[in-house]
Amino acid sequence: MSEKQPDRNNKIPFEEDNYTHNIRKNEERRLDRRTFMKTIVGAAGVFAVSTLPWGALAMRELANGGEKSYAKAAIPGSAGLRVGEAVEFAYPSEHDTALLIRLGENEYKAYQNACTHLRCPVVWDGGRTELVCPCHHGFFDPANGAPTAGPPRRPLPEIALSVEADGVYAIGVKRYEA
Ligand code: FES
Repeated sequence: MSEKQPDRNNKIPFEEDNYTHNIRKNEERRLDRRTFMKTIVGAAGVFAVSTLPWGALAMRELANGGEKSYAKAAIPGSAGLRVGEAVEFAYPSEHDTALLIRLGENEYKAYQNACTHLRCPVVWDGGRTELVCPCHHGFFDPANGAPTAGPPRRPLPEIALSVEADGVYAIGVKRYEA
């Protein structure tokens, strides 16, 4: 016995029940395009305005040659440092670790010690008189911070120093040229 299946919304509605019968489709399409264009232009405008501060910062950096001013800071432990020894300190912020190395009687060098490969802390190896990154055996020249072996390709940023009667002071960070 076959029972007739009920219709399941598969009918095209009558003209008067069709809610789209009074919409002019061409007009609707044009409105959609216009709305889309407005959205795109609006988004581009918001993006342009939101990036203005960064542009201004970049301009200021370029205008003064990338020179920043840094506070002068005494390096703790520098007064008693012997030739061939190094001491760790933080500069310019408390989160930027650095190494001061005494290479000679009147010769000091300091570098930020985040490795330029993958930022492992670089340490001073007094026996080899080299800066060593233990993570992937990277080596740096203490005279100029340049990489001498291993994966690093860029030198360590150097810290400008002022050697005074009561110890050594950090006075700036010399960024390497990329
Ligand atoms: S992180 Fe220093 S050599 Fe890889």
